[in-house]
Amino acid sequence: MSERVIRIGMVGCGTVGAATIRLLHDHAGDLARRAGCRLEVARVAVRDLDRERGLPLDAAAFTTDAASIVDDPRIDIVCELIGGVEPAKSLLLRALDSGKSVVTANKELLASEGEALFDAADAAGLDLLFEASVGAGIPLIRPLKESLAGERIGRLLGIVNGTTNFILTRMSEQASSFADALDEAQRLGYAEADPTADIEGSDAAAKCAILASIAFDARVVADDVYREGITGITDVDIADARRMGYVVKLLAIAELDDGEISARVHPAMIPQDHPLAAVRDAFNAVFVEGEHVGQLMFYGPGAGGDATATAVVGDLMTAARNRMTGGRSMGCTCALERRIRPMDDTRGQYYLNLHVADRPGVLAEIAGDFGHNGVSIERVWQEGAGDEATLVFITHRAQEGALQKTLQELRESPAVRSVTSVLRVEGEEP
Ligand SMILES: NC(=O)c1ccc[n+]([C@@H]2O[C@H](COP(=O)([O-])OP(=O)(O)OC[C@H]3O[C@@H](n4cnc5c(N)ncnc54)[C@H](OP(=O)(O)O)[C@@H]3O)[C@@H](O)[C@H]2O)c1
Repeated sequence: MSERVIRIGMVGCGTVGAATIRLLHDHAGDLARRAGCRLEVARVAVRDLDRERGLPLDAAAFTTDAASIVDDPRIDIVCELIGGVEPAKSLLLRALDSGKSVVTANKELLASEGEALFDAADAAGLDLLFEASVGAGIPLIRPLKESLAGERIGRLLGIVNGTTNFILTRMSEQASSFADALDEAQRLGYAEADPTADIEGSDAAAKCAILASIAFDARVVADDVYREGITGITDVDIADARRMGYVVKLLAIAELDDGEISARVHPAMIPQDHPLAAVRDAFNAVFVEGEHVGQLMFYGPGAGGDATATAVVGDLMTAARNRMTGGRSMGCTCALERRIRPMDDTRGQYYLNLHVADRPGVLAEIAGDFGHNGVSIERVWQEGAGDEATLVFITHRAQEGALQKTLQELRESPAVRSVTSVLRVEGEEP
């Protein structure tokens, strides 16, 4: 009996694409047995045909014309690994339109243009799989979408960007400055030459949007996600956090409260004994709280060609099996319309570090600013330094809008020389 062959058209052959081709080649026997068909990389689109790639593929398989792969009737599955919104979006719409299943790792595309792509996949009854788009090698999308389909998820807290976690780990454990830690991340290949998307939080915001959409059955796009990066984190924040029993992490947070979604990415202090506090260096983890299952944590390498390729190959195998059986994986689950709660209406705990005049009555004046805005103080300590003192506060849970109003008053108060830092505190029981 002749073995069925499923032909893959790769669009992109960089860090992830090349590792995917190697994995498909090296594990070909296992994959064929598990999939019930042979997975063949038939064609590969790249930008530069002259680049030496050292891959087990004939040079004739390579082209710079990605559209010709998408239009090729012999191709069954298009695997997009170029990244960015265009031309990826047009290529994938064209692939679905011409009956091809699609696998992608492109969080930026899905978090901004996901609706058009999922609609096209639903209309065509074809797979659009994206396991590698969040958490790279960590199985996360399928467990959330399928294994937890019977659960109601209330909250997700994630460390979903390896570059920023590496930088914050170095700042916490080796007292590195932000600039030195970023430098080291770039030297070790954890950060891009242009690290903006990582350190300003937009990479994490795209992933947060994808996770929130799946967890709460409603479309959340990257622009719905409130975003602050880590460029403002100082050694004072790190030292204060340690002193109070916390560590600083860049968190992606998605919550469902009263039917409304809150989605945000910002640095936060979390208790040292919280499971996410132990996630160091470039690792990623997503902590999930469900009504019945309680707390779950998904942990592992959140970047890297080989790790990401395992997720891509898992999707390719699923898509191949579905083509063999005529089946389809779970399509888009964003069936509900939910309000995105504005940041000012969310509630949280806050840490503030203020430089104040060291004179009698200052603490009472400042406490008054908190009090009349309805922000109550859980802990405070003071350290004097000549005519200036440092006051550090941890608040009880309060409304973000009220905290912002308090901050504005503190900045205008004659008793306050400067508001040195403000950070949210997460991971405590609400
Ligand atoms: N790297 C990771 O650790 C990681 C982890 C999870 C998800 N992802 C996602 O995976 C995707 C790929 O990332 P990567 O790190 O592999 O990127 P990369 O190393 O920059 O590779 C991009 C590839 O796309 C090709 N390419 C770009 N534009 C093209 C075009 N218009 N036509 C044909 N080919 C084109 C490039 O060709 P040349 O080789 O000729 O330049 C290169 O092979 C992105 O969506 C990324 O967000 C990456």
